[in-house]
Amino acid sequence: MKVTYYGHSCFSIEVSNKTLLFDPYISENPLAGDIDLKKIKADYILISHGHGDHVGDAIELARQTNATVIAAYEITNWIMNHGVTKTHAMNIGGHWIFDFGKVKCVNAIHSSSLPDGTYGGNPMGFLIEAPAGNFYYAGDTALHLDMKLIGDYKKIDFAFLPLGNNYTMGVDNAVIASDFIKCDRIIGMHYDTFDMIKIDHTESKKKFELAGKELTLMKIGETINMRQSVLS
Ligand code: NI
Ligand code: MN
Repeated sequence: MKVTYYGHSCFSIEVSNKTLLFDPYISENPLAGDIDLKKIKADYILISHGHGDHVGDAIELARQTNATVIAAYEITNWIMNHGVTKTHAMNIGGHWIFDFGKVKCVNAIHSSSLPDGTYGGNPMGFLIEAPAGNFYYAGDTALHLDMKLIGDYKKIDFAFLPLGNNYTMGVDNAVIASDFIKCDRIIGMHYDTFDMIKIDHTESKKKFELAGKELTLMKIGETINMRQSVLS
């Protein structure tokens, strides 16, 4: 699966020949100045919660790409009030089979208000299952025990976890989270964008290494290929 990083918590992932874009916060991201919004393609835009650094450019990109927005019911309502017509409302615990694979909405411990103060429902993480592999996108969250359910439920080939601390869990808790979900390949997100979430890259990678895991910190604009892990 091809994974492209657009900064903060925004990734596009090619799943079954469809492009899934997560939490597109680009034009306001001080670190993503080299990303041209107009070149971004998406078949689906998934939004984990209502905060501005996640909803970001979703409305503009949904209009530009004609993508379907997948998010909590309260967020899809808000998006539709802003002129987006293709949405799929979900909520925690539910799954739906799309043409690229299965999306299951899982718990995230955080908050969720939209940029204008509208209630955004509950924050969520997403578990994506597809023939080419399964991955977990945690959204903004604290470490929580429900992550063990995710690890018991499915083999997770790789996972996107927040690392920046202050607003979400930090690196030490992310190492524990990766144990809970039984996943050894972690892609970091929600770090460095603001002063309060800056991390030491070398030290963070070392912490995962000591736990027998691999932490990938992508460069903004970089594309990597994530393969399915071999069953042991
Ligand atoms: Ni947030
Ligand atoms: Mn955030």
